[in-house]
Amino acid sequence: MNSRQQHIRDVFEKTNYRNQLVWLNAGNQTGSIQIEICEKILTEFPEEEITALEIGSAYGGGVEFMAKFFYGRGRAYGYDTFIGHPKDLADNQKDLEAYCMDFWYEQGKRIKELAKDRLDYNYQRKILDKQMLSNAVLVNGRIDEHSFDDIKKIHFAMFDLDLIKPTRIAYETIKDKFVSGAYAMFHDSLPPDHIPNIHKFVYDEVLKDGRWQNINDKWDEAETIAGLVTILKRRLF
Ligand SMILES: C[S@@+](CC[C@H](N)C(=O)[O-])C[C@H]1O[C@@H](n2cnc3c(N)ncnc32)[C@H](O)[C@@H]1O
Repeated sequence: MNSRQQHIRDVFEKTNYRNQLVWLNAGNQTGSIQIEICEKILTEFPEEEITALEIGSAYGGGVEFMAKFFYGRGRAYGYDTFIGHPKDLADNQKDLEAYCMDFWYEQGKRIKELAKDRLDYNYQRKILDKQMLSNAVLVNGRIDEHSFDDIKKIHFAMFDLDLIKPTRIAYETIKDKFVSGAYAMFHDSLPPDHIPNIHKFVYDEVLKDGRWQNINDKWDEAETIAGLVTILKRRLF
């Protein structure tokens, strides 16, 4: 492990240890890549107020992490239904995009940190408020074309909705708000057969329009595949 990787691991372990809300992606490579991207953002946008989004924030840990990380430098927004995965939005209830959260909800019957009441908006708000994370903003409800009305500029967006329909709505609604040099991560876009609709959307639509550079080659393929993630950087303009 080189010193950069060691540094990321140190931040990751400390942050995860201190998190009071569960961050599902902390359990896979995506969490450490997300931390790495947040570090890049801090150094690449030294003068700007940062806006970072976790679109599909579940138990809230990713938003908690980013609010702490960007405290004094910007805001972290979390988007979710706060009542569970809206699987009815999947065309086929037998597809992974429909049932992928069932595993966690099932665990929640035994593990209190994953219980369904931990998805609740008021519960998460209280935990964030207790830590005085006034820069954490929770946006409650199903994603639609107005979910992002408050956002003017975006430096980072993590797309993690599992479902193709709201992923497309979210991306189409915010795609013109990314600043030059911004980052986006799409969870579940790899490998191609994991959630094929998300993969096709990212590789055949998002990347084809030319505004993004796929920067997955900055990580080992094993890391991005393990993290199920595609990392994009907005071309400079
Ligand atoms: C895989 S989880 C997110 C995990 C989270 N990023 C983490 O690492 O802890 C997917 C989340 O997307 C949310 N979601 C899916 N479709 C949605 C929609 N249309 N509107 C709002 N939230 C949605 C689900 O409720 C679920 O909590």
